[in-house]
Amino acid sequence: ISTLTALAEEKTLNSTFVRDEDERPKVAYDQFSDVIPVISLRGIDDGDSGRRAEICKEIVEACEDWGVFQVVDHGVDAGLVSDMTRLAREFFALPPEEKLRFDMSGGKKGGFIVSSHLQGEAVQDWREIVTYFSYPTRSRDYSRWPDKPDGWRSVTEQYSERLMDLACKLLDILSEAMGLEKDALTKACVDMDQKVVVNYYPKCPQPDLTLGLKRHTDPGTITLLLQDQVGGLQATKDGGKNWITVQPVEGAFVVNLGDHGHFLSNGRFKNADHQAVVNSNCSRLSIATFQNPAPNAIVYPLKIREGEKPILDEPITFAEMYRRKMSKDLELARLKKLAK
Ligand code: SIN
Ligand code: FE2
Repeated sequence: ISTLTALAEEKTLNSTFVRDEDERPKVAYDQFSDVIPVISLRGIDDGDSGRRAEICKEIVEACEDWGVFQVVDHGVDAGLVSDMTRLAREFFALPPEEKLRFDMSGGKKGGFIVSSHLQGEAVQDWREIVTYFSYPTRSRDYSRWPDKPDGWRSVTEQYSERLMDLACKLLDILSEAMGLEKDALTKACVDMDQKVVVNYYPKCPQPDLTLGLKRHTDPGTITLLLQDQVGGLQATKDGGKNWITVQPVEGAFVVNLGDHGHFLSNGRFKNADHQAVVNSNCSRLSIATFQNPAPNAIVYPLKIREGEKPILDEPITFAEMYRRKMSKDLELARLKKLAK
Protein backbone atom coordinates (compact mmCIF):
# COMPACT_ATOMS: atom_id res chain seq x y z
CA ILE A 1 0.00 0.00 0.00
CA SER A 2 1.54 3.30 -0.98
CA THR A 3 -1.12 5.87 -0.09
CA LEU A 4 -4.82 5.59 0.75
CA THR A 5 -5.94 7.60 -2.27
CA ALA A 6 -7.01 4.62 -4.41
CA LEU A 7 -8.30 2.51 -1.50
CA ALA A 8 -10.63 5.29 -0.39
CA GLU A 9 -12.42 5.06 -3.75
CA GLU A 10 -13.16 1.34 -3.47
CA LYS A 11 -16.60 -0.01 -2.49
CA THR A 12 -15.32 -2.29 0.25
CA LEU A 13 -12.59 -1.90 2.79
CA ASN A 14 -9.25 -3.49 2.00
CA SER A 15 -8.81 -6.40 4.43
CA THR A 16 -5.57 -5.09 5.96
CA PHE A 17 -7.67 -2.44 7.74
CA VAL A 18 -10.35 -4.73 9.15
CA ARG A 19 -10.19 -4.83 12.96
CA ASP A 20 -11.27 -7.62 15.29
CA GLU A 21 -14.81 -7.08 16.49
CA ASP A 22 -13.83 -6.05 20.00
CA GLU A 23 -11.73 -3.18 18.64
CA ARG A 24 -14.29 -1.75 16.22
CA PRO A 25 -16.03 1.59 16.93
CA LYS A 26 -18.91 1.42 19.42
CA VAL A 27 -20.04 5.03 19.10
CA ALA A 28 -20.49 7.09 15.92
CA TYR A 29 -17.96 9.73 14.89
CA ASP A 30 -20.60 12.48 15.12
CA GLN A 31 -22.45 11.37 18.25
CA PHE A 32 -20.87 14.15 20.27
CA SER A 33 -20.60 14.32 24.02
CA ASP A 34 -19.90 17.42 26.08
CA VAL A 35 -18.52 15.65 29.16
CA ILE A 36 -14.99 16.80 28.39
CA PRO A 37 -14.69 20.30 29.86
CA VAL A 38 -13.94 23.29 27.65
CA ILE A 39 -11.78 25.67 29.68
CA SER A 40 -11.13 29.32 28.86
CA LEU A 41 -7.55 30.40 29.59
CA ARG A 42 -8.42 34.09 29.54
CA GLY A 43 -6.67 35.68 32.51
CA ILE A 44 -4.26 32.79 33.10
CA ASP A 45 -1.36 35.23 33.54
CA ASP A 46 -3.22 37.57 35.92
CA GLY A 47 -1.30 37.14 39.11
CA ASP A 48 -3.74 38.19 41.82
CA SER A 49 -7.18 38.38 40.19
CA GLY A 50 -8.17 34.94 41.38
CA ARG A 51 -8.71 33.99 37.74
CA ARG A 52 -5.52 31.89 37.58
CA ALA A 53 -6.65 29.92 40.62
CA GLU A 54 -10.02 29.28 38.98
CA ILE A 55 -8.41 28.03 35.76
CA CYS A 56 -6.05 25.88 37.78
CA LYS A 57 -8.97 24.26 39.60
CA GLU A 58 -10.81 23.46 36.38
CA ILE A 59 -7.71 21.97 34.75
CA VAL A 60 -6.86 19.85 37.77
CA GLU A 61 -10.39 18.47 38.03
CA ALA A 62 -10.32 17.52 34.36
CA CYS A 63 -6.92 15.85 34.74
CA GLU A 64 -8.07 13.87 37.77
CA ASP A 65 -11.26 12.79 36.06
CA TRP A 66 -10.40 12.12 32.39
CA GLY A 67 -6.89 13.34 31.68
CA VAL A 68 -8.49 15.26 28.79
CA PHE A 69 -9.86 18.78 28.45
CA GLN A 70 -10.20 21.44 25.78
CA VAL A 71 -8.79 24.95 25.95
CA VAL A 72 -10.09 28.11 24.29
CA ASP A 73 -8.84 31.72 24.60
CA HIS A 74 -5.38 30.14 24.63
CA GLY A 75 -3.64 33.01 22.87
CA VAL A 76 -2.47 31.07 19.80
CA ASP A 77 -3.25 33.26 16.81
CA ALA A 78 -6.32 32.04 14.86
CA GLY A 79 -4.72 33.06 11.55
CA LEU A 80 -1.69 30.90 12.26
CA VAL A 81 -3.92 27.95 13.15
CA SER A 82 -5.93 28.30 9.95
CA ASP A 83 -2.73 28.61 7.83
CA MET A 84 -1.45 25.47 9.46
CA THR A 85 -4.57 23.44 8.70
CA ARG A 86 -4.88 24.82 5.17
CA LEU A 87 -1.29 23.90 4.31
CA ALA A 88 -1.66 20.48 5.90
CA ARG A 89 -4.78 19.81 3.81
CA GLU A 90 -2.91 20.92 0.70
CA PHE A 91 -0.06 18.55 1.48
CA PHE A 92 -2.34 15.53 1.70
CA ALA A 93 -4.10 16.56 -1.51
CA LEU A 94 -0.79 16.32 -3.43
CA PRO A 95 -0.46 13.40 -5.85
CA PRO A 96 0.86 10.20 -4.20
CA GLU A 97 4.30 10.48 -5.83
CA GLU A 98 4.81 13.93 -4.25
CA LYS A 99 3.91 12.66 -0.77
CA LEU A 100 6.04 9.57 -1.23
CA ARG A 101 9.13 11.72 -1.83
CA PHE A 102 9.09 11.97 1.98
CA ASP A 103 8.32 8.31 2.60
CA MET A 104 9.39 7.27 6.09
CA SER A 105 9.40 3.51 5.61
CA GLY A 106 12.90 2.12 5.90
CA GLY A 107 13.51 3.78 9.24
CA LYS A 108 13.86 7.42 8.20
CA LYS A 109 13.16 9.93 10.98
CA GLY A 110 10.24 12.08 10.01
CA GLY A 111 8.25 12.41 6.80
CA PHE A 112 5.17 10.78 5.28
CA ILE A 113 3.71 7.35 5.92
CA VAL A 114 0.49 5.34 5.78
CA SER A 115 0.42 4.39 9.35
CA SER A 116 -0.01 1.45 11.55
CA HIS A 117 0.06 2.29 15.23
CA LEU A 118 2.17 -0.58 16.47
CA GLN A 119 5.34 -1.80 14.93
CA GLY A 120 4.79 -5.32 13.72
CA GLU A 121 1.02 -5.19 14.08
CA ALA A 122 -0.93 -6.78 11.25
CA VAL A 123 -3.98 -4.48 11.11
CA GLN A 124 -3.39 -1.00 9.71
CA ASP A 125 -4.82 2.32 10.84
CA TRP A 126 -6.90 4.19 8.26
CA ARG A 127 -4.76 7.30 8.20
CA GLU A 128 -1.89 8.98 6.45
CA ILE A 129 0.50 11.04 8.51
CA VAL A 130 3.30 13.47 8.08
CA THR A 131 5.51 13.94 11.08
CA TYR A 132 8.53 16.01 12.06
CA PHE A 133 10.66 16.72 15.10
CA SER A 134 10.59 20.39 16.06
CA TYR A 135 12.29 20.61 19.50
CA PRO A 136 15.00 20.66 20.60
CA THR A 137 15.83 22.77 17.53
CA ARG A 138 18.93 20.69 16.83
CA SER A 139 16.64 17.74 16.09
CA ARG A 140 15.11 19.59 13.12
CA ASP A 141 16.07 17.68 10.01
CA TYR A 142 14.66 19.97 7.35
CA SER A 143 15.39 17.41 4.66
CA ARG A 144 12.54 15.38 6.23
CA TRP A 145 10.10 18.33 6.42
CA PRO A 146 7.90 18.51 3.34
CA ASP A 147 8.89 21.38 1.02
CA LYS A 148 5.43 21.64 -0.54
CA PRO A 149 3.11 23.50 -0.35
CA ASP A 150 4.94 26.82 -0.28
CA GLY A 151 5.17 28.42 3.13
CA TRP A 152 4.76 25.17 5.04
CA ARG A 153 8.12 25.37 6.77
CA SER A 154 7.77 28.89 8.13
CA VAL A 155 4.19 28.29 9.26
CA THR A 156 5.08 25.01 10.99
CA GLU A 157 8.02 26.69 12.74
CA GLN A 158 5.81 29.41 14.14
CA TYR A 159 3.13 26.92 15.09
CA SER A 160 5.68 24.76 16.95
CA GLU A 161 6.94 27.73 18.91
CA ARG A 162 3.48 28.92 19.95
CA LEU A 163 2.43 25.44 20.99
CA MET A 164 5.61 24.93 23.01
CA ASP A 165 4.71 28.13 24.92
CA LEU A 166 1.15 26.99 25.52
CA ALA A 167 2.24 23.52 26.68
CA CYS A 168 4.69 25.07 29.16
CA LYS A 169 1.93 27.30 30.56
CA LEU A 170 -0.24 24.27 31.16
CA LEU A 171 2.63 22.36 32.76
CA ASP A 172 3.25 25.34 35.08
CA ILE A 173 -0.35 25.10 36.25
CA LEU A 174 -0.09 21.36 36.86
CA SER A 175 3.19 21.78 38.76
CA GLU A 176 1.60 24.38 41.03
CA ALA A 177 -1.38 22.10 41.56
CA MET A 178 0.99 19.41 42.76
CA GLY A 179 2.39 21.86 45.31
CA LEU A 180 5.70 22.14 43.46
CA GLU A 181 7.68 24.97 41.90
CA LYS A 182 6.09 26.28 38.72
CA ASP A 183 8.82 24.83 36.49
CA ALA A 184 8.96 21.39 38.16
CA LEU A 185 7.35 19.47 35.29
CA THR A 186 9.28 21.22 32.52
CA LYS A 187 12.50 20.66 34.47
CA ALA A 188 11.65 16.98 34.81
CA CYS A 189 11.56 16.85 31.00
CA VAL A 190 15.21 18.00 30.99
CA ASP A 191 15.33 19.38 27.43
CA MET A 192 11.74 19.07 26.29
CA ASP A 193 11.16 17.36 22.93
CA GLN A 194 8.36 18.33 20.63
CA LYS A 195 7.12 16.15 17.80
CA VAL A 196 4.27 17.08 15.48
CA VAL A 197 2.08 14.46 13.78
CA VAL A 198 -0.35 15.69 11.17
CA ASN A 199 -3.09 13.10 10.67
CA TYR A 200 -5.19 12.83 7.55
CA TYR A 201 -8.10 10.38 7.66
CA PRO A 202 -9.59 9.95 4.18
CA LYS A 203 -13.27 9.08 3.96
CA CYS A 204 -13.60 5.38 4.37
CA PRO A 205 -15.81 2.86 2.51
CA GLN A 206 -16.64 0.82 5.65
CA PRO A 207 -15.84 2.91 8.71
CA ASP A 208 -17.58 0.53 11.12
CA LEU A 209 -14.93 -2.12 10.51
CA THR A 210 -11.86 -0.05 11.17
CA LEU A 211 -10.20 2.75 13.13
CA GLY A 212 -8.32 5.83 12.01
CA LEU A 213 -6.05 5.36 14.98
CA LYS A 214 -6.16 2.46 17.37
CA ARG A 215 -6.82 2.90 21.09
CA HIS A 216 -3.74 4.09 23.00
CA THR A 217 -2.39 6.44 25.62
CA ASP A 218 0.20 8.98 24.55
CA PRO A 219 3.62 8.19 25.99
CA GLY A 220 4.78 11.75 26.69
CA THR A 221 4.00 14.51 29.16
CA ILE A 222 1.20 16.43 27.47
CA THR A 223 -0.34 16.54 23.97
CA LEU A 224 -2.10 19.44 22.25
CA LEU A 225 -4.46 18.28 19.52
CA LEU A 226 -6.04 20.49 16.93
CA GLN A 227 -8.99 18.87 15.20
CA ASP A 228 -11.35 20.11 12.51
CA GLN A 229 -15.15 20.20 12.90
CA VAL A 230 -15.79 16.68 11.52
CA GLY A 231 -15.39 14.69 14.73
CA GLY A 232 -13.77 11.33 15.37
CA LEU A 233 -11.68 11.65 18.53
CA GLN A 234 -13.01 9.30 21.20
CA ALA A 235 -12.01 8.72 24.82
CA THR A 236 -12.76 6.06 27.42
CA LYS A 237 -12.07 5.84 31.11
CA ASP A 238 -13.19 2.28 31.75
CA GLY A 239 -10.78 0.40 29.52
CA GLY A 240 -12.92 0.60 26.39
CA LYS A 241 -16.37 -0.51 27.64
CA ASN A 242 -17.85 2.95 27.16
CA TRP A 243 -16.65 5.56 24.70
CA ILE A 244 -17.46 9.19 24.15
CA THR A 245 -16.86 11.23 21.00
CA VAL A 246 -15.26 14.56 21.86
CA GLN A 247 -17.34 17.49 20.60
CA PRO A 248 -15.22 19.54 18.18
CA VAL A 249 -14.97 23.17 19.33
CA GLU A 250 -13.90 25.79 16.80
CA GLY A 251 -10.49 27.21 17.65
CA ALA A 252 -9.91 24.89 20.64
CA PHE A 253 -7.05 22.56 21.41
CA VAL A 254 -7.80 19.22 22.99
CA VAL A 255 -5.22 18.67 25.72
CA ASN A 256 -4.43 15.24 27.00
CA LEU A 257 -2.03 13.95 29.56
CA GLY A 258 0.35 11.18 28.56
CA ASP A 259 2.02 8.37 30.48
CA HIS A 260 4.90 10.58 31.60
CA GLY A 261 2.50 13.14 33.11
CA HIS A 262 0.59 10.30 34.74
CA PHE A 263 3.70 8.79 36.37
CA LEU A 264 5.11 12.13 37.53
CA SER A 265 1.86 12.91 39.34
CA ASN A 266 1.92 9.42 40.86
CA GLY A 267 -1.27 8.55 39.00
CA ARG A 268 -3.25 11.55 40.26
CA PHE A 269 -3.55 12.86 36.69
CA LYS A 270 -4.98 10.33 34.25
CA ASN A 271 -3.40 9.33 30.96
CA ALA A 272 -6.49 9.09 28.84
CA ASP A 273 -7.13 6.12 26.58
CA HIS A 274 -8.24 7.48 23.23
CA GLN A 275 -8.69 6.54 19.58
CA ALA A 276 -9.85 8.07 16.32
CA VAL A 277 -12.76 6.75 14.27
CA VAL A 278 -13.41 7.53 10.62
CA ASN A 279 -16.51 7.95 8.46
CA SER A 280 -17.81 7.52 4.92
CA ASN A 281 -18.96 11.12 4.41
CA CYS A 282 -15.81 13.18 4.49
CA SER A 283 -12.12 13.23 5.32
CA ARG A 284 -10.81 14.54 8.62
CA LEU A 285 -7.65 16.37 9.65
CA SER A 286 -6.03 16.59 13.06
CA ILE A 287 -2.65 17.88 14.20
CA ALA A 288 -1.12 16.39 17.34
CA THR A 289 1.75 18.19 19.05
CA PHE A 290 3.50 15.90 21.50
CA GLN A 291 5.55 17.38 24.33
CA ASN A 292 7.90 14.70 25.52
CA PRO A 293 10.74 14.50 28.00
CA ALA A 294 14.26 13.98 26.67
CA PRO A 295 15.08 10.26 26.25
CA ASN A 296 17.43 10.31 29.25
CA ALA A 297 14.97 12.19 31.53
CA ILE A 298 14.13 10.25 34.69
CA VAL A 299 10.58 9.00 35.08
CA TYR A 300 9.48 8.80 38.72
CA PRO A 301 6.73 10.52 40.73
CA LEU A 302 7.65 14.09 41.69
CA LYS A 303 5.12 14.05 44.46
CA ILE A 304 3.83 11.16 46.50
CA ARG A 305 0.97 12.25 48.68
CA GLU A 306 0.39 11.02 52.19
CA GLY A 307 -0.91 7.47 52.25
CA GLU A 308 0.08 6.84 48.64
CA LYS A 309 2.55 4.29 47.33
CA PRO A 310 4.77 5.16 44.36
CA ILE A 311 3.27 3.77 41.15
CA LEU A 312 6.72 2.89 39.82
CA ASP A 313 9.08 0.44 41.52
CA GLU A 314 12.17 2.38 40.54
CA PRO A 315 13.23 5.46 38.61
CA ILE A 316 13.70 4.68 34.91
CA THR A 317 14.59 6.77 31.89
CA PHE A 318 11.91 7.91 29.48
CA ALA A 319 13.58 5.79 26.77
CA GLU A 320 13.20 2.73 29.01
CA MET A 321 9.59 3.63 29.86
CA TYR A 322 8.84 3.81 26.15
CA ARG A 323 10.62 0.54 25.42
CA ARG A 324 8.55 -1.24 28.09
CA LYS A 325 5.33 0.25 26.74
CA MET A 326 6.08 -0.94 23.21
CA SER A 327 7.06 -4.44 24.26
CA LYS A 328 3.92 -4.73 26.38
CA ASP A 329 1.78 -3.64 23.40
CA LEU A 330 3.49 -6.15 21.12
CA GLU A 331 3.06 -8.91 23.70
CA LEU A 332 -0.67 -8.14 23.98
CA ALA A 333 -0.99 -8.23 20.19
CA ARG A 334 0.84 -11.59 20.14
CA LEU A 335 -1.38 -13.10 22.85
CA LYS A 336 -4.46 -11.92 21.02
CA LYS A 337 -3.31 -13.60 17.81
CA LEU A 338 -2.63 -16.85 19.70
CA ALA A 339 -6.10 -16.78 21.27
CA LYS A 340 -7.79 -16.74 17.87
C1 SIN B 1 -3.93 11.18 18.33
O1 SIN B 1 -4.32 10.50 19.27
O2 SIN B 1 -2.73 11.44 18.20
C2 SIN B 1 -4.86 11.72 17.27
C3 SIN B 1 -6.30 11.54 17.56
C4 SIN B 1 -7.17 12.25 16.56
O3 SIN B 1 -6.85 12.33 15.37
O4 SIN B 1 -8.24 12.73 16.96
FE1 FE2 C 1 -2.92 10.06 20.88
